[in-house]
Amino acid sequence: MGEILGLGATHYPSLTAPPERMLAFFHHILSAPNIDPKYKDRANWPREMLAELGNDEGRASIDRYRERMWANFRKQRQMIDDFAPDFMVLIGDDQYENFREDIIPPYCIYGLDDDFDLQPWSNGGQPKANGWGEPGDWTMRIHGHRDGAKELTTGLIRAGVPMPYAYKPLHLAGLGHAFTNTLLFLDCDRRGFPHPVVPFHVNCYGSMVMRSHGAVAHLFKTEPEPRLPDPPAPTPALCMSVGAALARVIQASPYRVVLMASSSWSHCFLSPVGGWVIPDHVADREMLAALRRADWDAWRNRSLEQIERAGHHELLNWMVLAGAMAELDRKPTIDDWVETYIFQSDKCFASFAVN
Ligand SMILES: [Fe+2]
Repeated sequence: MGEILGLGATHYPSLTAPPERMLAFFHHILSAPNIDPKYKDRANWPREMLAELGNDEGRASIDRYRERMWANFRKQRQMIDDFAPDFMVLIGDDQYENFREDIIPPYCIYGLDDDFDLQPWSNGGQPKANGWGEPGDWTMRIHGHRDGAKELTTGLIRAGVPMPYAYKPLHLAGLGHAFTNTLLFLDCDRRGFPHPVVPFHVNCYGSMVMRSHGAVAHLFKTEPEPRLPDPPAPTPALCMSVGAALARVIQASPYRVVLMASSSWSHCFLSPVGGWVIPDHVADREMLAALRRADWDAWRNRSLEQIERAGHHELLNWMVLAGAMAELDRKPTIDDWVETYIFQSDKCFASFAVN
């Protein structure tokens, strides 16, 4: 019988940057023409935001923030090593990276090759500066688990979930940053990551994936929004039912599986609540409180409108995990909860230990 360790974390892109470049995205957002000038004026910023910036333009906050993130990833890495999985199902989104105009599947399970190389800093020949000081041709070798991917996909289809799958990327040489960053962070000390990985894509961005290019393009566009929005993401209830089915399939398999959702919570640049500059802390706290008491109905009943207004698009990754944990009657441990005004999104680190 299969066994599951549930984990939730983040793939926050700016954490890959050198510390002195970590607020570049914050300033990029503030430069967007579609942001109300009142949100650009420091005189209107909440005192918590000014305190986080401090009198050194955020430098002390950056150092503290990074250390806190690494401490959480080291702890999660230890949990994964101790669990010794056959493979890890890594649930993440695609931000107009591998899936574009030619196809936007609601989900996709990747059955990668046994050896699969990532070159996160190659950037089309323009080496990307990074916090590890690694060169553009630096390579992270990860391992796929095609048999595991086949069995999960087959089990889901037999259970009535018409699950798409792929054996190689479509538009990328590697994987989307949701997957790549999570693996980089779980190996922040660069010991290598020996556990095979089965990426599990969720179309979190829905009607925003093309308009925002999976990030902030909508804040820079001058043309009006299309008359009809693009089709939506799968709903929270649907994601949770897929997660529940996934848990049952894994339980019926011979595998030990880490089921890890990777995403920050409210993304400021996806939420009008804080003028596209400040995350929706109120919505995040509501979801966190519900998670702490394992109130799965509160998660399941969230509407897509609520998800989109709060910038909770990427929380749909966590909805798949939540559906699995609800199915297994697991209780969460909130290992850390990190709110911010200048790092774009609140971060949750959670674990759901084996009963
Ligand atoms: Fe993301």
